[in-house]
Amino acid sequence: MDPAGREARDVADLFWVMLIGAGVVWTIVLGVAVYATRVKTDAHEEHVGKRLIFWGGVVFPVVVLAALLVYGLRLMPELRQPGEGLRIDVAGEQFWWRVRYRPQNGPEVVTANEIRMPVGERVEFALTSPHVIHAFWIPTLGGKVDMIPGRENRLVLEAEKPGTYRGVCAEFCGASHALMAFDVVVMEKPAFDAWLAAQAAPLPTATGDLARGRDLFLQNGCGACHAVAGIEARGEVGPNLSRFGARKTLGAGALPNTAENVVRFIAETDKVKPRVTMPSYPALPRDDLTAIAAYLGSLK
Ligand code: CUA
Repeated sequence: MDPAGREARDVADLFWVMLIGAGVVWTIVLGVAVYATRVKTDAHEEHVGKRLIFWGGVVFPVVVLAALLVYGLRLMPELRQPGEGLRIDVAGEQFWWRVRYRPQNGPEVVTANEIRMPVGERVEFALTSPHVIHAFWIPTLGGKVDMIPGRENRLVLEAEKPGTYRGVCAEFCGASHALMAFDVVVMEKPAFDAWLAAQAAPLPTATGDLARGRDLFLQNGCGACHAVAGIEARGEVGPNLSRFGARKTLGAGALPNTAENVVRFIAETDKVKPRVTMPSYPALPRDDLTAIAAYLGSLK
């Protein structure tokens, strides 16, 4: 109801037209019903009744519904126009989002659970899923599109206002379906370009306490599932954590991204996100968890 993108505005306008149309029809039907039962209760002559059925029961609904249908269908070609340059591949995982930027110039960037896009540009999303159906939905920017195993669906979105918006999974996909959200950060074009270029730059090497966190991360095998650029962590099963510290939430919108919450997420993953693939690590010493959380928080 508060659109910040072209497609969402079109959908909101459609909603209001349909709502007002439905309201007018509802009022007329109720008015006629009250008139027939309270005001003029005696029977009509047969030819008057037939005429009423023909005009009120056939012609009127056909004209009104056809007009609303044409208005609604008019939007479809507009919503199908191709994107302009930036393409973002998004895959729905259980229960998180794999995100890959494919800029026309410059290297690909892989991230997770957060999408950034420039304002005023038609960005094309290629939506897939490896195992179950999810639905990709950023309500303030546009309509929802299913992510279906074995096919690639396209969605083009043009953000009109910079800001941070919430994206969600809109198709039941398992126990943690309701904990499958993502942040959408819409930025001015130069800021976005600078951000994307910075993602491809190498991460600074961890030193001191942070180095201890990095070593614990590797020793505990986190790198088998998670990738972090520049170290021996290349797993692709779980979310890429290269710039984890810059994200606002963790666990795909499950918790705010604070060190305390990272400790909690690692120690009791299944309590925070039921049925998630990642195992819990309740036996890890508190000290080690804190060090790992500090290291992950430093990855920006
Ligand atoms: Cu993914 Cu619901």
